[in-house]
Amino acid sequence: MVDSKATNITWHEGHVSREEREARLKQKGCTLWFTGLSGSGKSTLAYTLEHALIQRGKHAYVLDGDNIRYGLNKNLGFAAADREENIRRIGEVTKLFADSGVITLASFISPYRKDRDAVRKLHETGKLPFIEVYCNTPIETCESRDPKGLYKKARAAVASGQGLGFTGIDDPYEAPVNPEVRVDASATSPQDAALQLIGYLEQRGIL
Ligand SMILES: Nc1ncnc2c1ncn2[C@@H]1O[C@H](COP(=O)(O)OP(=O)(O)O)[C@@H](O)[C@H]1O
Ligand SMILES: [Mg+2]
Repeated sequence: MVDSKATNITWHEGHVSREEREARLKQKGCTLWFTGLSGSGKSTLAYTLEHALIQRGKHAYVLDGDNIRYGLNKNLGFAAADREENIRRIGEVTKLFADSGVITLASFISPYRKDRDAVRKLHETGKLPFIEVYCNTPIETCESRDPKGLYKKARAAVASGQGLGFTGIDDPYEAPVNPEVRVDASATSPQDAALQLIGYLEQRGIL
């Protein structure tokens, strides 16, 4: 929980209602939050879905873990407090994006349940849909794909007695208890998973 440092601030309401924004955009703003181990297919699925939505004339945008760490969160590392602050900031950004009417796709390991739940709460308070997509690909598959060589690095670090604090190897991953959707990237193609999510968004009246 971060306390506000600023004083003398007042929320300024705009003149455009959410209904007016949604009518103009022909869609409802929301956040799909992709969580899972490194290599579980979060980015692949988020970008595949973004592409599919744009092709359908919808406005979608991906916020991806690594990309955000290049800029907004470049002053944060992977210690527990930094991971928490990383997700807190992204939570606030996704809420703003969703409020602006964008179908917001957030792809972050986000290993701690309480941090994800705080983002959910933030959306609920703002009356914005929050859809947790648990990429529950088995760690064996993630580790065998290992496109960035990170599991190899983490295993070597653990073997040398140093450790890396790598999620799933020597740092915890707390799986969602009640995610809206589960996707196993060892059993589903990114295209099929994207179609499944589009079906879900239609069913929820978001598309
Ligand atoms: N559904 C899938 N089927 C097969 N391979 C996949 C699938 N999703 C992702 N991959 C592959 O797995 C690796 C990790 O995917 P990535 O999206 O980078 O994971 P994450 O963003 O969760 O770390 C990549 O090499 C990617 O091409
Ligand atoms: Mg990724």
